[in-house]
Amino acid sequence: MPDRTPYLAANWKMHKTTEETERFLAEFLPSVPEEGAEVVVCPPFTSLNTAVELCFQSRVRVAAQNMHEADDGAFTGEVSAPMLLELGVHGVILGHSERRQYFNETDEALARKVPVALGAGLEPILCVGENEGQRDADETEGVLTRQIEADLAEVPETRLSEVVIAYEPIWAIGTGRTATPDQAQEAIALIRGLIESRSPEGAAAIRILYGGSVKPDNAAELLSQPDVDGALVGGASLDPADFAAIVKAAA
Ligand code: PGA
Repeated sequence: MPDRTPYLAANWKMHKTTEETERFLAEFLPSVPEEGAEVVVCPPFTSLNTAVELCFQSRVRVAAQNMHEADDGAFTGEVSAPMLLELGVHGVILGHSERRQYFNETDEALARKVPVALGAGLEPILCVGENEGQRDADETEGVLTRQIEADLAEVPETRLSEVVIAYEPIWAIGTGRTATPDQAQEAIALIRGLIESRSPEGAAAIRILYGGSVKPDNAAELLSQPDVDGALVGGASLDPADFAAIVKAAA
């Protein structure tokens, strides 16, 4: 089995102006260990340029939080892969539950977006996860299976390992209610099994993260699970010291 490099991503959501981005990175960048986990920050569109410039001399890479699948066109308010690439952006979060819930992001759209991102040279961070009602009704497996099968349908087997998947149970996002390490491991092992049915090599190499109320004090235990390859961190990633502590917990 290939060694999977841990992957820690900061999802800032609609937080931080460019000035706040500068302040965060001035404190955060010097605290990033020289080797070890891959570290990615995902600021809002307006701070991408600043983040790319400030991270240029560091190991930290920058990803966007969404992308339209067309290269250009009459899609007011949207941003395309070539626009992100021109800024030096490395990847893009796709299918975050807030986009699915509030902005009508569908599995059909994600089935187009994921291969477009890959084809353009952007690393997709695909988010999946069940809501509380679905977990209580024992539908977690069905929901994850549907999302993974649909969202990755157009990704060729040989490129599956280039996608990063984030398992984010919706009931754990921003609630302070973290999945237990066992719950995270179980869901992520299930997702790896779904990838394995298409490509055993892809399943062994693909990074699958946990997201949902990851904090400095619970990160080490979550990250020590055999199938948990990293974390997508929301609230705690807004504080440079907290996100640095989570990065160090992956070591
Ligand atoms: P949270 O958010 O860490 O604030 O729960 C995680 C996410 O939504 O990616």
